[in-house]
Amino acid sequence: MKFEGIYEKTVLIVKPDGVQRGLIGEILQRVEFKGLKVVGLKMMYLNEEKLREHYAHHVEKPFYSGLSNFMKSSPVVCICLEGKHAVDAIRLIAGVTDGAKADGGTIRGDLAMGMCNVVHCSDSIENAKIEVKRFFTEDEIFDYNKTEYLHVYMEDERK
Ligand code: PPS
Repeated sequence: MKFEGIYEKTVLIVKPDGVQRGLIGEILQRVEFKGLKVVGLKMMYLNEEKLREHYAHHVEKPFYSGLSNFMKSSPVVCICLEGKHAVDAIRLIAGVTDGAKADGGTIRGDLAMGMCNVVHCSDSIENAKIEVKRFFTEDEIFDYNKTEYLHVYMEDERK
């Protein structure tokens, strides 16, 4: 069964601190329990070229070199998630950038103390589309039915 209204995609990256601290499963569990569908999942190293593209707006900022070294310090886990309003849903689950200021109940609020903030997530639908292509090849994104959706969305929400 195909549903029309629930195919928005977003990218969530478990950063090196999340990988090193053994939080991959915790983060995956939170987004799966929310009802989002995992349609892509891979571990990879981010190189300087990819980071300069990804953080293009921040390359000139004083924190960039620290951020870049941090992001290269370990593999990351890239997760592509799909669902209705997936971009906003993940932003809410992730919490604000600074873990010290993030609300309890969010990934960063519960699991981070500052700018080692455990996850990156796409900040808009437009950027999500760019990031899906940046971090995944076409054959790494899976198109399948999630039968659980019948119990995640009401009939009118699936249209
Ligand atoms: S901005 O200027 O508001 O757009 O920046 P922001 O969205 O808060 O952050 C963009 C990304 O840069 C990271 N960041 C930092 N890393 C290390 N040190 C410092 N001081 C710092 N400030 C911002 C922040 O975690 C964001 O990374 P991503 O991967 O996008 O979450």
